[in-house]
Amino acid sequence: MTAVDVIREAAGDGFVAPRLGLVLGSGLGGLADAVQDATAIPYKDLPGFPVGSVAGHAGRLVLGTLEGTPVVVLQGRAHLYEGIPVSDLAVPVRTVRALGAESIVLTNAAGSLNPEAGPGSLMALTDHINLMGANPLTGPNDDALGPRFVPLGDAYDLELRAGLRAAAEGEDVELHEGVYLAVSGPSFETPAEIRAFKTLGADAVGMSTVPEVIVARHCGLRVAAVSAITNLAEGMGTEKLSHEHTLQNAAVAAEKLQRVLRRFVEAQA
Ligand code: HPA
Repeated sequence: MTAVDVIREAAGDGFVAPRLGLVLGSGLGGLADAVQDATAIPYKDLPGFPVGSVAGHAGRLVLGTLEGTPVVVLQGRAHLYEGIPVSDLAVPVRTVRALGAESIVLTNAAGSLNPEAGPGSLMALTDHINLMGANPLTGPNDDALGPRFVPLGDAYDLELRAGLRAAAEGEDVELHEGVYLAVSGPSFETPAEIRAFKTLGADAVGMSTVPEVIVARHCGLRVAAVSAITNLAEGMGTEKLSHEHTLQNAAVAAEKLQRVLRRFVEAQA
């Protein structure tokens, strides 16, 4: 059985193909509780799904309806820094596609290199820089899923981003925009790395999302991504970086992000 088989069987006669996938990052999982007519399945019961172990990540898939739109929510994700093979990170995204979704919205907690976008703020991603040292499409290509060489020139969909902007405006939430730079982690960056990343053109730094964007583009999903800024990047602020701190500040951004995403999803119905 594939993950898709398990999900279809669990949903039974109530199965409705999702229009949209939502991936909820560290401390951002609350939105999954708002899903109606929900079928929830722990990742450990989904064949091929990598199971993460980080605090703040629930690790379950929730299929149902949000604001009238059929969705599939991935509440929590596995990360490269947990020792998960990068190709395994493809499975949840391909499952979203195989269930019938056309678009995916990825969220994460990130550090900000833009002093104007401080802790608790939101940043829609316009592009990325992959310094993870890994690509989930490494290895043989399955031509049935997508092409060997995937263009990423328009990875972050303009129309979806306009939808996010409209939703943020409607909720009176400021939505910054910027380039996300991905590192493997799990150590936070050094101040010298952050200075270097700034000259490279990064606005936010984090340890996720980019593998999912690459896989999503490979299988033809349209992509939007939002960072919940939990801290100014190392060397830019006075606070000490820690995962606990990340989760605390994620709560401030999560409240805003939930409102913005609900309004965004409503408009996709
Ligand atoms: N660096 C990398 N990942 C992060 C950060 C950071 O400062 N904050 C939250 N996730």
